[in-house]
Amino acid sequence: PYPWHRSLRERAPVHFVASRGMWFVTSRELVAKALADHDTFSSAFGLPQMPVPDSIKAEVEAIQAEGWPPVPTLLTADPPEHHYYRRMLAKAFTPRFVAQLEPEIRAIARELVAALPVGAEVEVVRGFAAPLPLRVIARVLNVPDDRIDDFKRWSDQFTATVGGQLDDAGLLEQARNMVEFQKYFAAELDDRRAHPRADLLSGLVTAHSMDDADEPLSTGAILNIIVQLLIAGNETSTKLLTGILHELAREPKLWDRLRDNPIDYAADLVEEGLRFLSPVQSMFRITKAEATLGEYTIPAGQLVVLVFGSANRDDEAFTHPDDFDPARPNAKAHLAFGAGIHACLGAPLARLESRIALEELAARFGSVRLGAGNDFAYEPSFMLRGLQRLALEFGADG
Ligand code: HEM
Repeated sequence: PYPWHRSLRERAPVHFVASRGMWFVTSRELVAKALADHDTFSSAFGLPQMPVPDSIKAEVEAIQAEGWPPVPTLLTADPPEHHYYRRMLAKAFTPRFVAQLEPEIRAIARELVAALPVGAEVEVVRGFAAPLPLRVIARVLNVPDDRIDDFKRWSDQFTATVGGQLDDAGLLEQARNMVEFQKYFAAELDDRRAHPRADLLSGLVTAHSMDDADEPLSTGAILNIIVQLLIAGNETSTKLLTGILHELAREPKLWDRLRDNPIDYAADLVEEGLRFLSPVQSMFRITKAEATLGEYTIPAGQLVVLVFGSANRDDEAFTHPDDFDPARPNAKAHLAFGAGIHACLGAPLARLESRIALEELAARFGSVRLGAGNDFAYEPSFMLRGLQRLALEFGADG
């Protein structure tokens, strides 16, 4: 996508693409401006729904009737709802809470690293980059080890529609998985209501509803928050880690530097990885009123795509933006986590788990190189970008 982004930035950083009926914003400056103006650029766009064919509509609805209808909470809500949910979750998801997870994240990373082979090809999305964030989120939500496989299946089902179409059987399977997921967590929430613990779920059940301080937060709203943590935290972190490993395998000097100075260099790799890869390539907004961005005017009621992947490679903001350079002084100026009121809530967790992953890999392996069996196929998605699989070969220590 990058040559197309570049030509848009140069010619018209706010551009209406008639075939899609959407406005694309591609310069760093104007993406940041739109993010800051959440009154005009609304997030209440609703998530794109898969159209369900008439032939199975009744069946899907019957399955969904056993669950809870979606409640917009964070990503797809505007103030005041957004403010309310964000403040509540931020109370549970504090920097202290994240920092306390470090030993457990390290233990998970070590276990996964120990299972990787030396001197033989391994597919690292399945073997490392996907299970790590999944198990970390499972830990945050206190999912016991014997339910991890179910948790993974639910998580995969939530994102099954990100990349493409599902057939009828796939849509029914997805609906069943969603309800199974909801029932599992609804039971967990009941358990926390009866026996509160020192965990995130207990924090959520003790919160009050937005409209009435005497009413607890509804199960439907909490389920939606959990879904957002799951979706927002898994695929994104997997794509970041996979992309950084790909860069490391392409340039042996980077691995040597990581081994020499793992703590600082891992953090630099993560930050430059975020900029260079932009796992969340773009997010939608909808204009609530006529909007002005630089010299451009967007009418009210328009769907706008903020292209983080392009903003992060804007040469007005970053020198040689298409080079992966962990030593660049201002990588942190990226917008890979967004900015403003919707800025990624999980950013401290994503940074921590990615840094630990790189440290643990560097502690075990002396080198890394690309395996022979790579097709370098990217996820067929417009919002998430990342390799679908990556074959690597790690070398022995020393
Ligand atoms: C929001 C990126 C990891 C939870 C966002 C947004 C971006 C983003 C760009 C802003 C969307 C917008 O402006 O509309 C990423 C990337 C990640 C990552 C690149 C990893 C590399 C995580 C993790 C979690 C998480 C690990 C949770 C455990 C959230 C939530 C929001 C969010 C809840 C919504 C915040 C709101 O609307 O107030 N993320 N994220 N993310 N992220 Fe992340």
